[in-house]
Amino acid sequence: MKMPFVFFLAIFATAAQADGHQLTVPANAQWQSECGSCHLAYPPQLLTAENWRQVMKGLDRHFGANATLDAKENAEILAFLERHAARDSRYSAKSLRISDTPWFQREHREVPHTVWSHKQVKSPANCTACHIDGDKGNWSERGVRLPDGRRWE
Ligand code: HEC
Ligand code: HEC
Repeated sequence: MKMPFVFFLAIFATAAQADGHQLTVPANAQWQSECGSCHLAYPPQLLTAENWRQVMKGLDRHFGANATLDAKENAEILAFLERHAARDSRYSAKSLRISDTPWFQREHREVPHTVWSHKQVKSPANCTACHIDGDKGNWSERGVRLPDGRRWE
């Protein structure tokens, strides 16, 4: 008799995540250390499984860097990314950049040009320039500080 309630919770959780709110980043030590050394470990929910497969296939020429892993580690990290990947095409980009997805563009549409071009930001992929605790899994709007120190809102 518990089933319908569990289903309701599952649907509710999915809707909340699709909104960009309550982004809860799953823990995985291997992914955190391998994919969080050059930049923060980007949350797996922000790209589709197909995009992650392409990212993991091209690590030898990864946005101008060489991030090659051995085959076993690559397969293990890919399995983790696929398990938590977005299932919605709004989280998909040909460039394999989260910052090019329709979701990202929409979520950040109110961020002014002067903020993006600020010297401490440089690239939209530099999430922690504004989400100061993004590397600790805090993606809420209240965790945003603009480069001039102002809070968002
Ligand atoms: C050797 C350094 C290095 C490692 C290790 C590395 N990356 Fe990257 N990654 C980069 C660079 C450089 C960029 C481009 C950053 C920019 O444009 O500001 C990037 C960008 C990305 C982007 C695009 C972000 C965006 O929205 O523009 C994704 C997704 C990504 N990396 C995933 C991963 C994953 C998954 C791993 C682990 C398998 C990983 N990276 C490991 C260097 C690295
Ligand atoms: C230049 C500053 C800046 C950068 C860089 C940036 N963001 Fe944001 N982000 C914001 C602001 C400001 C908001 C709130 C937008 C709004 O409410 O209109 C936001 C909203 C979000 C939200 C939704 C939060 C919520 O509670 O609704 C997520 C998730 C997010 N960003 C993830 C990312 C990721 C991942 C990256 C890097 C790939 C990134 N952001 C890069 C400024 C930035």
